[in-house]
Amino acid sequence: MILEKIESLLKEVSEVSASNAEELEALRLKYLSKKGEINALMADFRNVAADQKKAVGMKINELKQTAIEHINALREQMETKNDDSEELDLTRTAYPIKLGTRHPLTIVRNEIIDIFSRMGFTLADGPEVEDDLHIFTKMNFAADHPARDMQDTFFISQHPNDVTKNILLRSHTSSVQARVMERTQPPIRIICPGRVYRNEAITARAHCFFHQVEGLYIDKNVSFTDLKQVLLTFSQEMFGPETQIRLRPSYFPFTEPSAEMDISCHICGGKGCGFCKHTGWVEILGCGMVDPNVLELCGIDSNVYSGYAFGLGVERITNLKYLVSDLRMFSENDTRFLKEFESAN
Ligand code: DAH
Repeated sequence: MILEKIESLLKEVSEVSASNAEELEALRLKYLSKKGEINALMADFRNVAADQKKAVGMKINELKQTAIEHINALREQMETKNDDSEELDLTRTAYPIKLGTRHPLTIVRNEIIDIFSRMGFTLADGPEVEDDLHIFTKMNFAADHPARDMQDTFFISQHPNDVTKNILLRSHTSSVQARVMERTQPPIRIICPGRVYRNEAITARAHCFFHQVEGLYIDKNVSFTDLKQVLLTFSQEMFGPETQIRLRPSYFPFTEPSAEMDISCHICGGKGCGFCKHTGWVEILGCGMVDPNVLELCGIDSNVYSGYAFGLGVERITNLKYLVSDLRMFSENDTRFLKEFESAN
């Protein structure tokens, strides 16, 4: 009886197969574990006649050996098969590709462009390496204006007897106003985003390069009211509909009258906090009516046309929107900082 059982188990065990690790484990449990079929034979072994014990014992050992070898062989087969299939599985989904993130200044610049585009402004562009004529002279800077000094501006080359031919890194995007006006007759309605350079020590609050967006509108009968309305719309689109603006008289060589514009502090809602130095207001841009001298210097008849201009700092707006307290973060390429803007568009 027992011998027959062993024979049939031997046959069974050498024919079994498994197609995955779970099935293999089930086989191991079925035949080789403590409660498995082979151990169960041991119970019957006690009743075997003494003269047959040796033969039956050997047969059980053979069965156990066969089971171990066959199950090990199946395991090995499965492992090598897995290696091969990993190389060959062309249908597997690709690993997700890690994309970079937009720089916070780019995010904000795009938003500024977007808002002014909706108000009819088109994009203009000009060189970063520019001559004095466009940066200073045509923008009505006096010959002895301090911005023309090496201490404020990076010069690339200085002309021995004609300062207007000096070549420098532009210190503001207002130079693009001159570039556009000398080649286009009004109506003109442009914005120009771009990088500017100043000879400043690098600290948390100042940098030797930063970004501006220049705006220029020239047509017949343009008034200060038009300027105010455009700037109010921009501020409310950028910082929320409850935002208020305040214009303070100021001075720029290329505008008359000139103003600096503050927005109500969107952190405390104008009540006063550490961020707005308890004034309730934060400055975001300079603006004014284009000085008739500038129009004339750029070939536009100031008796027929008038216009307004404004210039805003992209870093400033980004600081306000995202509360970045140190300007150096923008150019250090620290991915821990840049990744914080991953979900912004
Ligand atoms: N160019 C000025 C600056 O760099 C900013 C500015 C002020 C631009 C008034 C303008 C303006 O167009 O009207 O600080």
